[in-house]
Amino acid sequence: MALPNRFLDELKSRVPLAAVVGRRVRLVRNGRHYKACCPFHSEKTPSFHVYEDHYHCYGCGAHGDVISFEMAAAGLSFAEAVEALASEAGLEVPKPDPQQRAREVRAAGLGEVVEAACAFFERRLRLPEGRAALDYLHRRGLDDATIARFRLGYAPPGGALRAHLRREGIADDTLVEAGLLRRPDDGRDPYDYFRGRVVFPIRDRRGQVVSFGGRVLGDAKPKYLNGPETELFHKSRMLYGLAEARAAIRERGEVVVAEGYMDVIALSAAGFAQALAPLGTALTEAQIEALWTLAPEPVLCFDGDPAGQRAAARALERALPLLGPGRSLRFALLPPGQDPDDLIRERGPEAMRAVLDAALPLVELCWRTLRARHRLDTPERRAALEREIDRTVQAIDDRAVAQQYRGALRDRFWAAVRAARGQRPGRGGAMRAAPAGRGGSGMAGVPAPAATPAGPLPARRLQECVLLATVLNHPDLLEHVGERLGTLALDDPELAALRSALLSAWQGRLQRGQALDRDALDRDEIVNHLRTAGLTAAVDRVLGPAVCMHAAFARPGATAEAALAGWEHVFRLLGRPDLDLDLRAAEARLASDMTEECLARLDALRAGRGCLFDEPETKPYPVHIGGIGPPDTGS
Ligand code: UTP
Ligand code: MN
Repeated sequence: MALPNRFLDELKSRVPLAAVVGRRVRLVRNGRHYKACCPFHSEKTPSFHVYEDHYHCYGCGAHGDVISFEMAAAGLSFAEAVEALASEAGLEVPKPDPQQRAREVRAAGLGEVVEAACAFFERRLRLPEGRAALDYLHRRGLDDATIARFRLGYAPPGGALRAHLRREGIADDTLVEAGLLRRPDDGRDPYDYFRGRVVFPIRDRRGQVVSFGGRVLGDAKPKYLNGPETELFHKSRMLYGLAEARAAIRERGEVVVAEGYMDVIALSAAGFAQALAPLGTALTEAQIEALWTLAPEPVLCFDGDPAGQRAAARALERALPLLGPGRSLRFALLPPGQDPDDLIRERGPEAMRAVLDAALPLVELCWRTLRARHRLDTPERRAALEREIDRTVQAIDDRAVAQQYRGALRDRFWAAVRAARGQRPGRGGAMRAAPAGRGGSGMAGVPAPAATPAGPLPARRLQECVLLATVLNHPDLLEHVGERLGTLALDDPELAALRSALLSAWQGRLQRGQALDRDALDRDEIVNHLRTAGLTAAVDRVLGPAVCMHAAFARPGATAEAALAGWEHVFRLLGRPDLDLDLRAAEARLASDMTEECLARLDALRAGRGCLFDEPETKPYPVHIGGIGPPDTGS
């Protein structure tokens, strides 16, 4: 009995598994799920877990859904179990549909025809007439094993396929239905769909060939031709490479999504066998859903040029409504003008690995996309960005995820507003701006301290210098602290300029995929880079004796662990005045906007301050910051 999946899904959603199981064994709550003593083997402590859509026994391995439970527990056949559950749910089991059945038979037949075409194309690639195509593939770096694995072939020009399959007794109508022949509107004879092209067989999840993509050997247009929609081939739901990638995906828990056929193959040949691609279109919702059945956070690759960034933003928008707890996407931006195939050929698999490792979480890309569209220098512009943040959050259907996004984007928003304030007078300016909204260490109109200040530095300034000195001397630390360094309010323009140059050097590296090249993240190189960028005075100040004298962990000779621990400690000390700033902002917001959400944010900040203040000040690492007292939070 072949029942439509739609009916079975409906049935499963109408009959809660827990209710059915609960009729036979006593369930106890276990977090959001249930557990029970297993009805299928004898035990005293419960190891039979019941989730929303399936059950699993960690004792005997019993596993299944509501239908298989009913079959096993009541000793019914599949049809009987479905019948019983359906009548319970008030659903009618659909009668076997002869048309549906006929469609299935026809599709099975078409599958054989397409398979025959695939074998024909493969053979032709190895015959003299396929020589140019084979040379082309070799020139593009594919070896014979890869060509065989992806079953690449050659479709000769003219009507070779039609003639061949005719001899096998396959009628034109069938070939048209299989998407292999095209019948012209003017009534002339049908002709081969793929002619004079390298062909890439497209397989469904079981590995059956359902259609082809065909590429010209030279520069003619269109470069790629994809088979038409047929009974077998549903472009918007399938993914190229899935059959070949499945084992690697399961093994590695990673999915990489590229744009084209050649990318998938090049990735696979370079050791990234977990690669897939959509079929000549942008990723559809159905494809995103399909990706999530494979891995919780598929990585999508995009060209780093503006068009690629726009494509990434479109994929992001499409994914927002579909996000769920634990299920997201990551975005790998490649060097401008390159696809994975180009990158691997020019710079090797290591460069590709680095790009994948540096992939941005969806929330980060989301923030960068929003941020890039707005300046923050006037209240109206800031409000416009806030409104866009709200719209983005509203696009997320899942409430828990939406709430997390609201928090994450708001936090980045406030950090950016603070950073914009800190940098207002422009990079390296000699005059300090009047500090915006903060009392304490700043004095308007006072020249910045000299390169190697003789007198004691104000506590807060010293702490800022210590943080910068630590990352300058230990650039590897940026990987752990870079993001937080970016959120720090620095109202000394010289230090702010130094920070921003340092972070963009670091981020540029990440984006160019050099993060894994440890040697490249070298202290001297970075210091030189900053000096050439006109930041010599700031570098000297930060690396001067006054700073290193106070914090041993900031010196180049300190261990990475000490440097990190020291950095964290000083950052926490510095966090307090920022928190106050946030608190004031949140209070102001609440006064004008008495919503739950503003109240919640204020509560969270208050709680955060409480917990920071109550934290015991243990110092398990050698920090001797003579001049650094508790920050002045009283302003
Ligand atoms: P690209 O033009 O980026 O091709 O198209 P590519 O994969 O880098 O191809 P090579 O390296 O020049 O061989 C990416 C994908 O877009 C679809 C195809 O699915 C292709 O793999 N496409 C492209 C078409 O459907 N038609 C076209 O004319 C071009
Ligand atoms: Mn390419």
